[in-house]
Amino acid sequence: MQLAQESSPLVDFQDVSFSYKGSKQEILRNVNVIFKSHSFYFLTGDSGMGKTSFMKLIYSGLLPTSGKIDVFGANTKDLNINTLPSFRQQIGIVQQDCELFEHLNIQENVALVLKLQGVEAKRANVYAEELLAWTGLGEYLKRFSKELSEGQKQRVAVARAVIRRPKLLLADEPTGNVDEAQSKRLIGLFKELVKMGTTVIIATHNRQLISANGYCEYRLKNGELRQYNSLRGTSSLTAQLMRKA
Ligand SMILES: Nc1ncnc2c1ncn2[C@@H]1O[C@H](COP(=O)(O)OP(=O)(O)OP(=O)(O)O)[C@@H](O)[C@H]1O
Ligand SMILES: [Mg+2]
Repeated sequence: MQLAQESSPLVDFQDVSFSYKGSKQEILRNVNVIFKSHSFYFLTGDSGMGKTSFMKLIYSGLLPTSGKIDVFGANTKDLNINTLPSFRQQIGIVQQDCELFEHLNIQENVALVLKLQGVEAKRANVYAEELLAWTGLGEYLKRFSKELSEGQKQRVAVARAVIRRPKLLLADEPTGNVDEAQSKRLIGLFKELVKMGTTVIIATHNRQLISANGYCEYRLKNGELRQYNSLRGTSSLTAQLMRKA
């Protein structure tokens, strides 16, 4: 029972096409792909190929032009003003341009997520402190975002996204501004989350990160999504993606 649940699809793209209104670029063309629960994925592709748009399609920030996307068993097109908040609560999102509340220090920024869920303030602050210490920011708790480097802000955004232990973590270039040691540390944190049952999808340009970790990679190019076996370092289009073919 547990095994079946663990391998069930968490995100299911069915014949999905997507273009921005008025744009000729096909970001996705008839894409079929499944992201399973309890798994770790890299989403790669050159700049402008649509990684951020792909993430937005998953969290229902964008809707497909055609086809359907099921996330946690619900069609993202059917979400409405009442159901969207609880849907999004199950997803941790690290935006590419991570924005923090400027009037709150970083501990408050991270703790706020829990406080909004009704966690008692003292406990939320302790969790936030622990997580920030883990990302290497233990000495910066009382700093405000304008006093941090881009890489430090990114680490705060990661702490904020993972503090609720979401079912699904979407991290858009989370290691874009951090050095190699910090990248490794963040990947270590993401791996821990996967062990605890989270599915992690990381959009990245950093090929070194992928070869060092050997997880499943999906690459976006000209509207197609291909799966690469990064463990062997060779590329192969899998039948899994072509389940309708
Ligand atoms: N709101 C929008 N309206 C129209 N076109 C858009 C919009 N947002 C993005 N695009 C275009 O869609 C394409 C994909 O953009 P996206 O940001 O998803 O790419 P990306 O792979 O994340 O790029 P990067 O690696 O630079 O972050 C680009 O050509 C971009 O110009
Ligand atoms: Mg992007």
